[in-house]
Amino acid sequence: MVDLTSNAQGWIDLCPVADVSIGDLKYVLYNKQGLAVRRVGELAVQVLDDCCPHAGGSLSAGHVDPDLTDAGCLVCPWHGWPFDLDNGRCPDNPSLAVRTYPTRITNGRIQIQINMPISEMDDPGLDPDPNI
Ligand code: FES
Repeated sequence: MVDLTSNAQGWIDLCPVADVSIGDLKYVLYNKQGLAVRRVGELAVQVLDDCCPHAGGSLSAGHVDPDLTDAGCLVCPWHGWPFDLDNGRCPDNPSLAVRTYPTRITNGRIQIQINMPISEMDDPGLDPDPNI
């Protein structure tokens, strides 16, 4: 069960770290926002918005290509758009991106840091190209 509470620093509890095996991707829903959670190592995770800005593919159903950027990319399962795991930018078109979050693992739980409800966050200002 997702703990919807956050502390003063905006850390939000997503799920037990044991729910995500190292190297796996998991879809987590927080406050109506789908998130793609990737466990990188014993104490490291990456979290991005799950919804691809192209046409809404679920990025957590995609795969990781470690060779596209230094950090590797999460590749959308629908049409193959890649998004850098560190900054969320599409290396082929840096004006496109998904939101990424600071993460931590504490007391066996994966947490992300947000400073306000996700529904009130600014749009990253990156619109999909309707011609693609
Ligand atoms: S929906 Fe993601 S690349 Fe098209």
